[in-house]
Amino acid sequence: MASDRLRVPGTWYRVRASLPREAEDLALGTLDRAGSTGSSTLPAGPRRVACEAWFESAAAAAAGLAALRAIEGAKLATEAPEPVTDEGWLDAAARPRPPVLAGRFAVLDRAPDATAAGPALVGRELLVIPASRAFGTGEHPTTRLCLELLSERVRPGHELLDLGTGSGILAIAAARIGARRVLALDIDPAVLEVAAENVAAHGVAGQVRLAAGSWHAAAAGTLYDGAIANIHRTALVRGARAVASRLRPGGFAVLSGFLRADQDKVERAWARAGLAREAVRYDGEWVALAVRSEGATR
Ligand SMILES: C[S@@+](CC[C@H](N)C(=O)[O-])C[C@H]1O[C@@H](n2cnc3c(N)ncnc32)[C@H](O)[C@@H]1O
Repeated sequence: MASDRLRVPGTWYRVRASLPREAEDLALGTLDRAGSTGSSTLPAGPRRVACEAWFESAAAAAAGLAALRAIEGAKLATEAPEPVTDEGWLDAAARPRPPVLAGRFAVLDRAPDATAAGPALVGRELLVIPASRAFGTGEHPTTRLCLELLSERVRPGHELLDLGTGSGILAIAAARIGARRVLALDIDPAVLEVAAENVAAHGVAGQVRLAAGSWHAAAAGTLYDGAIANIHRTALVRGARAVASRLRPGGFAVLSGFLRADQDKVERAWARAGLAREAVRYDGEWVALAVRSEGATR
């Protein structure tokens, strides 16, 4: 899927390769371990994906490139990391971004200027998420689709799990709707610092608890009304049973971070765990799925 972390303005080193589709997870994991600040894969022809990764140093990029070269069937786009100075990003970061409208939310990158706010924001819950290293500014289709699906499902008083919180955007959104408690988890401790700032800035620190880890970090015996997870499809499939076991009867999950080609696989894993499809949304190739278990909903 798309990068788990956003690139920041400045100079980076890019590595690119075409890979067999079955090597996708291996490549993303290896690039992460090599210190990539962001990586992505997109379908590129029969059973192949185009993989791109970004690094902050030439040395880390060289390690990433070597790791890709070692994958069977990999075809490197260049024999050395490509240095990229993207002034456009510097300009883009300085320029106010148009609000992202999703569900009952408007996501902005800075506090709105009263004169410039405009009618589109009226009646919407405002989320102010500045660009940072953490994924989740509202610009990515998967975040937008999750905001839509959670707007329709989260009720005041709900207790929720947010797996892969990134900037904290989805946990903050749920708290703004009135969720009583959100346990927001991420395997990357660096993004939790960003999430903590965003949570505090939205005045929801009393509702959102941030912790390092994945679904295992949710205490056994505690049950939740719903889970939100915008993470890689492999983790969604692998974690389906464990997350489902933490949900109350009638509980829901909002799942994104995967492409149409992987929808069946994700949907089947959650159906086997007892949660059936309730809604699905698409933005281009990206999918967000809402599933629910049987039982009365709170
Ligand atoms: C695509 S971002 C989503 C951020 C935000 N929730 C959103 O929807 O915009 C995925 C985040 O999940 C984290 N992550 C990836 N795999 C995870 C896992 N198995 N458990 C918990 N967090 C995970 C990454 O570190 C990253 O911050």
